[in-house]
Amino acid sequence: MTKVMVLNGPNLDKLGTREPDIYGNLTLADISDACNKRAGELGLQIDFRQSNSESEIIEWLHLAAADGIPVIFNPAAFTHYSVAIRDAAALLTAPLIEVHISNPLAREEFRHTSLISGLAKGTISGFGVNSYLLALSALAAQLNK
Ligand code: DQA
Repeated sequence: MTKVMVLNGPNLDKLGTREPDIYGNLTLADISDACNKRAGELGLQIDFRQSNSESEIIEWLHLAAADGIPVIFNPAAFTHYSVAIRDAAALLTAPLIEVHISNPLAREEFRHTSLISGLAKGTISGFGVNSYLLALSALAAQLNK
């Protein structure tokens, strides 16, 4: 089974109560469960993680890079300003897919820049939990090519 890391950045641990009008009512545990179910259907094995710490996420990206593991990544606010996270993501050799629950391009201007998009195979934004599920399907298709 192909292993995939699903990495989540800061404040995503607060989903369910965090700005539900923007992010919906699902918790991160709900998203993890939905991802595990879809991954099983696609023959993927996911390692789902969240951190509020930039350094921890960088360490996880280093691990994924060292082991050639594909990454589905919601960098949350780090998307918009963390050069350190971008540099760590640039080490990846397997496909990287960027996901967002909301559509940052339809929101405040400071969210319109992504330092990650230029490194990603593609970006899926605005579909809530489905952004993750679509990313898993897209990744499975990429890996089966
Ligand atoms: C987000 C969008 C980011 O702009 C924001 O900082 C987040 C969540 C999303 O999933 O919609 O924390 O990445």
